[in-house]
Amino acid sequence: MYKEPEAHTIRQMFSEIAPSYDKANSILSLGIHHLWKQTVVRLSGAKRGDHILDCATGTGDLALLFKKTVGTPGHVTATDFCADILAFAPKKAKQENLDIQFETADVTQLPYADKSFDISSISFGIRNVENLDKALSELARVTRKKVMILEFGQVEAPVLGSVYNFYSNTILPKIGGWISGQPSAYSYLNSSAKSFPSGQKFIDRAINTGAYSNMTCKRLSFGIAYIYSGTPK
Ligand SMILES: C[S@@+](CC[C@H](N)C(=O)[O-])C[C@H]1O[C@@H](n2cnc3c(N)ncnc32)[C@H](O)[C@@H]1O
Repeated sequence: MYKEPEAHTIRQMFSEIAPSYDKANSILSLGIHHLWKQTVVRLSGAKRGDHILDCATGTGDLALLFKKTVGTPGHVTATDFCADILAFAPKKAKQENLDIQFETADVTQLPYADKSFDISSISFGIRNVENLDKALSELARVTRKKVMILEFGQVEAPVLGSVYNFYSNTILPKIGGWISGQPSAYSYLNSSAKSFPSGQKFIDRAINTGAYSNMTCKRLSFGIAYIYSGTPK
């Protein structure tokens, strides 16, 4: 059963794993999360000159990809409510010579006017927010065209599902724990991903907020993750 986490626990957890976040991500996903993020950008329809908001950006990977797409005439604002993890993002942008605006902000209380951005996004963040409905409404409120959400789902195929469950129940928390020194963060990743609503259940939840006229989804890697594409009202 999905239970929203407490914001202060989540902020503290990401603060603790921030220094090892990128390394753990690349090892645990075998780099596949980069491909999923590229798919988010492609499906968003983002084009040169667009204004983008990436929420719960963490170390900024998705924001960097969006900036490469919207180019110099475009603008990317990347936000997170955990300053300690966000602190790793500007260096990555600078290394790639990308001009991105980084700001500390809570996705459930975005400090932006209605319809300020063409596209807004959140990758592997929505599962971690304390108030899911408020976050979904806020994302829609500040967005003109598309809200893009990348989040874990569950693998339903019988054999593959068992293999993936073995990996995520036993191997992932161990390796994540070794790399970060915070095993509980990676047990939480596993348990929260297992119970978080995915596919049609997530779409129903988003539509029920009343903030979206439509939402579709694309299943990635047999359901390990989903990309949701929402049209704000
Ligand atoms: C798993 S990380 C994802 C980071 C990055 N988007 C990625 O795909 O690698 C989840 C992020 O969500 C952020 N987060 C959780 N709740 C938030 C909230 N209410 N507002 C803003 N950021 C939040 C955390 O601080 C953390 O950086």
